[in-house]
Amino acid sequence: MAGDPRVQDILDRALADIAGARSTSALEQVRVRVLGRSGELTALLRGLGKVPAADRPRFGQEVNRAKERLEAELEVRLVALKAEEHRQALQAQRPDLTLTGRAILPGAVHPLVRVLDEIIEIFAGLGFSVAEGPEVETDYYNFAALNFPDDHPARDMQDTFHLSADTLLRTHTSPVQIRTMKAERPPVRYIFPGKTYRRDADITHSPMFHQVEGLAVDTNISLGDLKGTLEHFAREMFGAGVSLRFRPSFFPFTEPSAEADVSCFACGGSGCRLCKQSGWLEILGSGMVHPNVLRNVGYDPEEVTGWAFGMGVERVAMLKYRIDDIRLFFENDLRFLGQFAS
Ligand code: DAH
Repeated sequence: MAGDPRVQDILDRALADIAGARSTSALEQVRVRVLGRSGELTALLRGLGKVPAADRPRFGQEVNRAKERLEAELEVRLVALKAEEHRQALQAQRPDLTLTGRAILPGAVHPLVRVLDEIIEIFAGLGFSVAEGPEVETDYYNFAALNFPDDHPARDMQDTFHLSADTLLRTHTSPVQIRTMKAERPPVRYIFPGKTYRRDADITHSPMFHQVEGLAVDTNISLGDLKGTLEHFAREMFGAGVSLRFRPSFFPFTEPSAEADVSCFACGGSGCRLCKQSGWLEILGSGMVHPNVLRNVGYDPEEVTGWAFGMGVERVAMLKYRIDDIRLFFENDLRFLGQFAS
């Protein structure tokens, strides 16, 4: 069939381009070029009127056949290219199974929380309740009600974070004693855990640290009760073998006052680096609640007596786990914290 050379030429080029199209968009360009509204083949059909009448049916038929042929070829090629593009898209998304996995580390309770929980548990076992107070305090609760004299150095801006002349970040948990005693009548048996703040920073002092305060007020509460309670605490915390000793001390809010030491659980008391060869480790301050403090909260010191203590949680944790730098607690180094996972 000797066809029209123009139709044949369009057909040949279009078929070659369809076969060579590497993407659906390249294929679409071929379709538009040939079959689009101003496409090559479309133009031939439009010019049909200029073809001599005798040739018109044959020529029209030829163009239409070429058009049908191209439409069919385009469709086949489109299906193939779509499938190929889909396959490539999937390939691009495929996870790389050779990548090494990311380990999910088990969480660990922070060593300070761990020690704090342990302290609370020991005193809860003795029937003590837990209460908390504000970290921003007034001079009254932090100092005055606790029988601090007006010129006590702790009241100085150098030692305490003051927010104003009268408000400050509490320097100890002792103000919670005052708040609790004002709110309740004896018998009172409490521990008060919480954050405390002082202008102090070196390897054993942090500007923010934690204390646990203890308080027992009732009729006939004695220094012996205090010592027995603290001895029980020390054995639960550091081991059944430890003993406790009192050293006379001074706090404005207790009289008499005592610092409590536990026998060094590292060397058994014979002297080592942990206890600096002394055989003893200082763990807390304590004493019998001063009569002025009892009066300040509306208790009658002739009727009730009480004892109190305050201990540093960081200090207990450092001793217990032989940690020699307090900053380790706050740097969040996983190599340190991970050692407490279990
Ligand atoms: N508040 C004291 C301090 O921060 C610790 C303390 C000592 C608390 C004796 C007490 C106590 O309740 O009786 O150093």
